[in-house]
Amino acid sequence: MNRAPSEAVFLKACRGEPTPVTPIWLLRQAGRYQKEYRELRSKVSLLELCRSPDLAAQVTVSAARKLGVDAAIIFADILLVLEPLGLEISFEEGEGPRILNPVRSAADLARLRTFDVGALAHVGEAVRKASAALAPLPVIGFAGAPFTLASYAIEGGSSKDHALTKALLHRDPGAFRELLAILARATGAYLSSQVEAGAEAVQLFDSWVGSLSPDAYREHVLPHSKTAISLVRPRVPVIHFGTGTAAFLEDFRDAGGDVVGLDFRVELDRAWDRLGPASRVMGNLDPAVLLAGRDAIRREAKKVLDRARGRAGHVFNLGHGIFHETPEDDARALVDIVHELSRR
Ligand code: CP3
Repeated sequence: MNRAPSEAVFLKACRGEPTPVTPIWLLRQAGRYQKEYRELRSKVSLLELCRSPDLAAQVTVSAARKLGVDAAIIFADILLVLEPLGLEISFEEGEGPRILNPVRSAADLARLRTFDVGALAHVGEAVRKASAALAPLPVIGFAGAPFTLASYAIEGGSSKDHALTKALLHRDPGAFRELLAILARATGAYLSSQVEAGAEAVQLFDSWVGSLSPDAYREHVLPHSKTAISLVRPRVPVIHFGTGTAAFLEDFRDAGGDVVGLDFRVELDRAWDRLGPASRVMGNLDPAVLLAGRDAIRREAKKVLDRARGRAGHVFNLGHGIFHETPEDDARALVDIVHELSRR
């Protein structure tokens, strides 16, 4: 399919083209900080919500409209891709996610099933519905990056230090490589299915990659992120987001994403200089600022915009996911402030 390049400001910024205003969307923009979301979640579980194309589309559309953002991200979860591989996932109230049969050895690996992207057709269906409702506002598809997915598969849940993951990497690099290769292919196929359903950009979340040393990132992780990204580029722009990437930002860029998602621990201008003028960047307001009231929000948003200096190729976002405690009106206020301060 040959589509004319979209005029949507978000997509123009992803392509590095100048825009009349800096586009903005928020990491985790649909979620528990919203009253409407909490009400829905009191009736259906997270997995039921993710598996219902109608409900997932509704949550996606409603969050984007309420916020007035320049893109919507499809409501889903990075862990969904693990299920068709034979991993059992559960989300218990008040706890993080759990993987009931983690992968910790070559023998566990051998038990994984062949990935069938058809098992996630409901996500494509949600993308289709959300895109139809929001057009011409773009819908972003997403997936977890191989390392972050592997960390859940190996640890069996969330982890502070990712000790088991890194122990496997160093004890049995062959098994680790095989696991990441499986996840990279699954991620590539899954992202492609979302693009076929109408996603106009995709984001790869490598949320926990900052727990690696630069050497370990380069040797054991970068090649697999590159594979996942290459399987979906160049059909749509790929946003490659990670946290704690400051020590190996250039390697992170070399994975091949079109836009590098920066966390709030780096200064946007210095990071952009390191990435080079041809790079596009997304970020990077500390989400905690949204808990500090309107004056702080305006002041800190302006600092991020000042560091971007109106350069083409900046997508404004938080430097990590929005906190549950964020007042909904203040999230909306941030969007309006960024549009107002960046109007050219
Ligand atoms: O608008 C959106 O961005 C929402 C869609 C979305 C969800 N998860 C739904 C969800 C997205 C983009 C994700 C990505 C995701 N999932 C990541 C990467 C994001 C990042 O910020 O780096 C990760 C690490 C996960 C795995 C995961 N899912 C965790 C660790 C948790 C528990 C955390 C918590 O806040 O309780 C989840 C559950 C989850 N996925 C929620 C949402 C909205 C929590 C709310 C709920 O239970 O309803």
